[in-house]
Amino acid sequence: MKRRDFLTSAAAALAVSGGGLMWAGKAFAAQTPPRLQMPPRIDTRASGRLALTAQAGSSNFLGGRAVPTVGYSQAYLGPTVIMQNGPLAAEIGNTLGEPVSVHWHGMKIAGAHDGGPHQPVLPGQSWKPEMQVNQDPSTIWYHSHIHQRTAQQVYNGLAGVIHVTDGRDDDRGLPSAYGIDDLTLVLQDRSFDRKGRMVYDPSMMDRMHGFHGNRMLINGQSGAIAAVPNGIARLRLLNGSNARIYNLFFNDGHPMHLVATDGGFLPRPITLEVLRLAPGERAEILVDFSGAGAPVLMSDPDQAYSLLEFARDETLPARITRLPDEIGSPLEELTGLETRSREISLDMGMGMMMGRGGFAINGQPFDMDRIDFNVALGSVERWIVRSSMIAHPFHVHGVQFRVLSEDGAPPRPENAGWKDTLLVPGVAEILARFEHPASKENPFMLHCHILEHEDAGMMAQFTVS
Ligand code: C2O
Ligand code: CU
Ligand code: CU
Repeated sequence: MKRRDFLTSAAAALAVSGGGLMWAGKAFAAQTPPRLQMPPRIDTRASGRLALTAQAGSSNFLGGRAVPTVGYSQAYLGPTVIMQNGPLAAEIGNTLGEPVSVHWHGMKIAGAHDGGPHQPVLPGQSWKPEMQVNQDPSTIWYHSHIHQRTAQQVYNGLAGVIHVTDGRDDDRGLPSAYGIDDLTLVLQDRSFDRKGRMVYDPSMMDRMHGFHGNRMLINGQSGAIAAVPNGIARLRLLNGSNARIYNLFFNDGHPMHLVATDGGFLPRPITLEVLRLAPGERAEILVDFSGAGAPVLMSDPDQAYSLLEFARDETLPARITRLPDEIGSPLEELTGLETRSREISLDMGMGMMMGRGGFAINGQPFDMDRIDFNVALGSVERWIVRSSMIAHPFHVHGVQFRVLSEDGAPPRPENAGWKDTLLVPGVAEILARFEHPASKENPFMLHCHILEHEDAGMMAQFTVS
């Protein structure tokens, strides 16, 4: 069973690395585990330009043999892109043998720039959207989005992180030194065979529940240790997994102070012991590592497994040593502005029990040639989103939304801010203002972010005009 392998390897990793390891301290073992690397950075702020190329490469994840992978401008995953509001001219190249795309997940831009299934970059071609970035500082991301190939392409490496920044994090009292006290962490479970090769071979069960791996990769690395200063660090977490939902916590009970959700900052930190993060979701948390031992980020308190160990490095500057009381301005209220409501059901029908069909939205599997509905440009709509059979992470392109209710109750504290992806176990009500146009040639998508479900048809498309 995959689950068992996963737990065994996690337990082994814990056993190997246990015992108060300190980076610059005395208790340092002879066999140093590798230090976690951040993705390289591309800062677009001065140039207003961004070039990314989908390319093939090979990666050595488990210290054994290198396996073929893909990435944007590197062998696996892509660089962290730093953006600010204003014009951004992107140029996306593709040296692979199949169409790919770059979808800007979480960006509030027009449908023509969205990078979804209607904007494929064919082999040898390029795509040059001239975008206007105009949104709150946030941790968003980009990934390929070719219909029926998204799961495989993202799994193989076509994804990366974006920081939208306004350069004012010092005023907010937030850590902002990349890779020092501001860590970008891409959480992905991947499956490896006995020879250490990464494999993607979804069974019928995997298609039903989404593909789950048997090992954790953080930023494409396995078993690395994250170095942190003797102070407060900011962790920008992206669940870049195809289907796995994390319930994150620290093994030593270290609290997590949530400061930002998908679309931007909360007014003030929310302290959590467990943070749920579904595929496609991001969260920014502050963690006070001062005086700590070596906390391990774990998932699933009931059946715990480890994701990432932290160790203090006394040579890193501890710039931030107290939690900010306030971070952002109060969240804008959209209630009372809605023009209409719409029911969205995320369907898993009985047909899929037979291994095919059944994945749909409002009874209809995705069809690239069918526009499912139109939203009036500039309007606020209330969507009532219902999941069938299992909890589905619901995502909408082109907007950030607010959660009004979850299963009839007020939203969970961690869903109180701006969201573009929301795990819906039962029913949720959301409000969104549709500020960017999308034509029938370049519509926006809404879909389940379990990538196997999306590829199987749990996706719809809408225009905004
Ligand atoms: Cu993260 Cu439609 O995608
Ligand atoms: Cu998206
Ligand atoms: Cu789903």
